[in-house]
Amino acid sequence: MADQLISYDPSGVFLPEHGITPAQLADLAGHLDEARDEVLADAQLWADGVEPSAEKNPLDAGFHELPDRLLGDFRSHGAKSELARIKAAADRLSAETQSVVVLGIGGSYMGARALLEACCHQYYNEVEPAMRRGRPRIYFEGNNVDNDALLDLQRLLQSRGDQWGLVCISKSGGTLETAAAFRILLHDLTASLGKDAGDIAKYVIPVTGTSGKLFELSKALGCKEVFEVPDGVGGRFSVLSAVGLMPAALLGLDIERLLMGAAAMNEHFRNNGPATNIVLQYVGVCHLMEELRGCYTRILSTWGKRLEAAGLWYDQLLAESLGKHEVGALPLTVVNTRDLHSRGQQHQEGARDKLITNLIVDTPSRGAIKIGSSDRNQDGLNELAEKSILQVLAAAIEGTNQAYREANRPTADIHLPQLDEYTLGQFFQFMMLATVVEGRLIGINPYGQPGVEAYKKNMNAILRR
Ligand code: PA5
Repeated sequence: MADQLISYDPSGVFLPEHGITPAQLADLAGHLDEARDEVLADAQLWADGVEPSAEKNPLDAGFHELPDRLLGDFRSHGAKSELARIKAAADRLSAETQSVVVLGIGGSYMGARALLEACCHQYYNEVEPAMRRGRPRIYFEGNNVDNDALLDLQRLLQSRGDQWGLVCISKSGGTLETAAAFRILLHDLTASLGKDAGDIAKYVIPVTGTSGKLFELSKALGCKEVFEVPDGVGGRFSVLSAVGLMPAALLGLDIERLLMGAAAMNEHFRNNGPATNIVLQYVGVCHLMEELRGCYTRILSTWGKRLEAAGLWYDQLLAESLGKHEVGALPLTVVNTRDLHSRGQQHQEGARDKLITNLIVDTPSRGAIKIGSSDRNQDGLNELAEKSILQVLAAAIEGTNQAYREANRPTADIHLPQLDEYTLGQFFQFMMLATVVEGRLIGINPYGQPGVEAYKKNMNAILRR
């Protein structure tokens, strides 16, 4: 199948009441174009190393060209490129371990989890190694403060007794949740290696900034493979740097395709005006629904469990980027049909403060399961025996959207042609670009997260009392 771009269909927001009109969206075109130009200019300012003005500081616009830059480097420098070094280190660690714990929080965690859930077996850690293409099991830690969860992981690794390793991801290198888990698990790893404890650096891959505590610790450990979170790429914009690429390569995913998808989205973004640019269309609809209809809650309605973590990645991106100066929409990811049985009532009949964006995969990657006939037809399902679970899902999507339309509830659809590295790369870049465009449109700097510092400062002060 030829490479297809993801698509955006906003027709479900063009409702007589409670929605917007195509003309209103068209009227915003000039502002959307200006915001896009500003985002492109920001990327150029950053590339030129120009000191940003006070209101643009911080300017972490380095994420924008990153996929193109990494691909260009790979094509011209081959085995010496960053991409090839990531693959080589992941292959080496993968060959030497049966499990790897990936440590990181926020932007240093969510993207890797999204990639695992979207692109790998749903029971990845449980299946036979051959079904994981010989890759290690992956566990996530350092993304919370949870004594019981960490203890259970320690016990699990110890009880297995096979070789495990660590990938520690922290841009600042000083985040307490990640650093504490790293120290504890490093201690366990050292103990498990016994007389070979001097080889510990073989089993540890750090991903961090070019200075900071984790960088220093990596040097002290003797780690030879230390990967960089590039300057000018903020945490929640870093999924397409070593932050997401290292875990993805460990999972055996095609990281080149991931970047190619993102680069295709960049090209689309640069070369299309507001009428055909899906990033600008998405921003325009979300913005107008908020401004004109008070839809401050943005529901990303994912149709399938494999997209839940991608939605949670987006929740963080939107919340941390635009939730500033007492504005910014509330993101909420749901998984349907699961959450139709918990939140569905409110979305159908609750306050009219929600825009629902469906995230739909057009072509499934697995075979269809039929309901099948049975001699015990007490459940009455023989009537549907020939229907597959995929047909049930399609009927649920159609039926839910019909119900929303009939109740004048606005919806839009993002279509992913299929679920693989190429479309995931597009999706990540689509959402990152949309978030910074919206930031420029409403005058909010999408970079930086000063509000997150308050709890860290207090927590550290309390601990050191
Ligand atoms: O988006 C962000 O910058 C944050 O969510 C960070 O990713 C998160 O706080 C983790 O930071 P660090 O990678 O420095 O440990």
